Amino acid sequence: MESIKVQGVSKRFTTKKGSVQALNSIDLAIEDKEFVTILGTSGCGKSTLLRIIGGLETASEGHVMCHGSQVTGPGPDRGMVFQQYSLFPWMTIQKNVEFGLKEKGVNKTKRIEIAKQYIDLVGLKGFEDLYPKNLSGGMQQRTALARGLANNPDVLLLDEPFGALDMQTREVMQELLLKVWQTSPKTIVMVTHDIEEAILLANRVVVMSARPGKIKDIIDVDLGKQRDYNTRLTEKFLEYKRQASNLIRTESMKVM
Ligand SMILES: Nc1ncnc2c1ncn2[C@@H]1O[C@H](COP(=O)(O)OP(=O)(O)O)[C@@H](O)[C@H]1O
Ligand SMILES: [Mg+2]
Repeated sequence: MESIKVQGVSKRFTTKKGSVQALNSIDLAIEDKEFVTILGTSGCGKSTLLRIIGGLETASEGHVMCHGSQVTGPGPDRGMVFQQYSLFPWMTIQKNVEFGLKEKGVNKTKRIEIAKQYIDLVGLKGFEDLYPKNLSGGMQQRTALARGLANNPDVLLLDEPFGALDMQTREVMQELLLKVWQTSPKTIVMVTHDIEEAILLANRVVVMSARPGKIKDIIDVDLGKQRDYNTRLTEKFLEYKRQASNLIRTESMKVM
């Protein structure tokens, strides 16, 4: 079953300073429960593509289908987590994670229970009553991820969610996300400019070309489902890394 279908999507931004072609005829089909990463150099249109899938931005041409219906705006079937952990500063960690559930009308007992489950999963048990400002960046981002997961959308859209984190925290978060996806598979589309991250997490890596963003290549990542930190050291992983690096390098050179 197809989850997301991007059909002939182009995007041109027009501002006072002129216009920018951010995306050029993107076609991409994502299967249900696939983990797809979108890899590309800065400014190639990754966020724009993800925002169009999320319904936060409209395409200039083409359209996006989600489970057979055309995307015309944001919806509870598609949850987003951004690089800048957009938590509500006036709400506790518990309330932040409960937020989407409350919006959906889930009753109080149930939403407390679900929120606790995900807070636990991301390793924040005991921090429920604190406010975002009392937590480190990594912990805030774990909260944002817990909130995204607690809503249980059909499709989770992640825009460089670990981009602002230090290396160690980033690796812990990548393993956490892998664990989540292994235990309860769902469709995940994640944008990143980090080659290793893109390969470690994905079934398929969609490599974008430099602006105007097009799909340059798609790498099928055959590393099995049980992956962890050590997977990075395998021969197969290194071969994928070489392949992706070569594609990215060609694109970076075009930009310069
Ligand atoms: N709201 C906007 N208005 C004008 N230009 C934009 C807007 N959003 C993105 N762009 C431009 O579109 C291009 C792609 O941006 P973006 O999707 O953010 O790239 P990436 O996420 O790959 O770094 C860039 O040149 C960027 O400046
Ligand atoms: Mg971006």
